[in-house]
Amino acid sequence: MPTFATRDPNNPAFWDERFEQGFIPWDRGGVPDGLRAFVATHSAMRTLIPGCGTAYELAFLLEAGWDATAIDFSPAAVAAAKAGLGKWGNKVALADFFAWQPGQPLQLIYERAFLCAMPRAVWPKVAARWAELLPPGGLLAGYFFFDDTPKGPPFGTSREALDALLQPNFECVEDAEVSDSIPVFVGKERWQVWRRR
Ligand SMILES: C[S@@+](CC[C@H](N)C(=O)[O-])C[C@H]1O[C@@H](n2cnc3c(N)ncnc32)[C@H](O)[C@@H]1O
Repeated sequence: MPTFATRDPNNPAFWDERFEQGFIPWDRGGVPDGLRAFVATHSAMRTLIPGCGTAYELAFLLEAGWDATAIDFSPAAVAAAKAGLGKWGNKVALADFFAWQPGQPLQLIYERAFLCAMPRAVWPKVAARWAELLPPGGLLAGYFFFDDTPKGPPFGTSREALDALLQPNFECVEDAEVSDSIPVFVGKERWQVWRRR
């Protein structure tokens, strides 16, 4: 494993270093089945992918005819995404999730390895921002990581803690096992859809 100077995942430099050294064990290298199934069963939704990393899902959504934007606050992540996205590269922006503003109201926020990338102390701020960005009826859909190891990232949660975090503003409308996890998440992630109250 390479050595890194930055230890704080709230700092974009933490992620820059890892992308620059090619140490990205969370990277799936493609689009997970849960998102494919979701897109196959829903009408197009205006979507945000926060903390997108290499953003394979962005090209998938755009090719399906969905209106989607991906953001990441790490310049190295955005460069990696743009390099892989070709003609869709202009739909990725360098932006901090907590400051970014949508041009039009969102209908969907896609979650994968973003909440678990941040220390648990930041999660109330993430949940509040999700709630702020989605109008009533809007969906938060994707992968949630369940684990109790104190060290991270990835930082996992429990059913109870995730409910306590999200239930004030969201109702869980889908919760399913995941069968195509990559090694870091295997047996510990679930596909969930939460509807903004
Ligand atoms: C573990 S990676 C996951 C990347 C991608 N979602 C995936 O599934 O491969 C977490 C990403 O979130 C980004 N990130 C963390 N905090 C952020 C913030 N406040 N605003 C935007 N991006 C952020 C990091 O730069 C990093 O690329």
